[in-house]
Amino acid sequence: MSDLHIELTRGWDLPSGDVRPDFDVMIVAGDLIPRAERGVKWLLDRVPDRPVIYCMGNHESYGTDIDRTLEKAKQVGSGTNVHALENETIRIGNVTFVVCTLWTDFALFGDERREMAVAAERMNDFKRIRTGHYAHRFRPAHALAKHRRSRAFLETELRKDRLGPLVIVSHHGCRRPELRLSDPPKPDELLSAVYYSDLSALMVPAPDDGRGALRPADLWIFGHDHRSFDGLIGETRVVSNCKGYGPWLPRERAWDNQNFDERLIIEI
Ligand SMILES: [Fe+2]
Ligand SMILES: [Fe+2]
Repeated sequence: MSDLHIELTRGWDLPSGDVRPDFDVMIVAGDLIPRAERGVKWLLDRVPDRPVIYCMGNHESYGTDIDRTLEKAKQVGSGTNVHALENETIRIGNVTFVVCTLWTDFALFGDERREMAVAAERMNDFKRIRTGHYAHRFRPAHALAKHRRSRAFLETELRKDRLGPLVIVSHHGCRRPELRLSDPPKPDELLSAVYYSDLSALMVPAPDDGRGALRPADLWIFGHDHRSFDGLIGETRVVSNCKGYGPWLPRERAWDNQNFDERLIIEI
């Protein structure tokens, strides 16, 4: 699951007791709460007895420094079952999990500069996040640099020899969404470039280029768009299961994505 947005949720909590399904690993694909160290504590209080993979969303860094909040989350999670990871892998059983926020390449519409300008103007990410030990405002160019690092990291991992399944967990989307664009596209429409990059090239096998042959992931879990998706792209099953903002009132079961399944289990 992803985008639980605890900061904008009243009266909803993780299923517990008899209604909690059995699972081996819990995946939280970002946007749990601003300040990831609070997210780790929230998870430790609720899930003490199973591994939890916690991928950073954009909102984890709101009101703070993007690298510092990850460091704090790692400190709080150190030695526990909650793993806050960025550009890192973890092996649980015979499954390799490859985890990164991912950000985007601002290339969905082939006009990187315009997409970055729209993002800078309209996305809170580029107003409310600090970087460089709080010294600078986080800008689209920082996000793009992080995207490139994560993409290179993913490709390296997909080209390594492996035994057993491989699961990618990212916050930002890895697929091209179905879009109906005006001509020319409106700024609101260009904002999709902040949500998705088309990474379908990583979902088909590629020959050895000196770094090993690329074998696509078995599963790619993402979040961020406050929707649900479950489909096969190339050889990879791609899934998102976001709650989004809400409920706004206690006991109301209304949130951004009415298809959110708080008990979704994926077998691999
Ligand atoms: Fe979100
Ligand atoms: Fe997000």
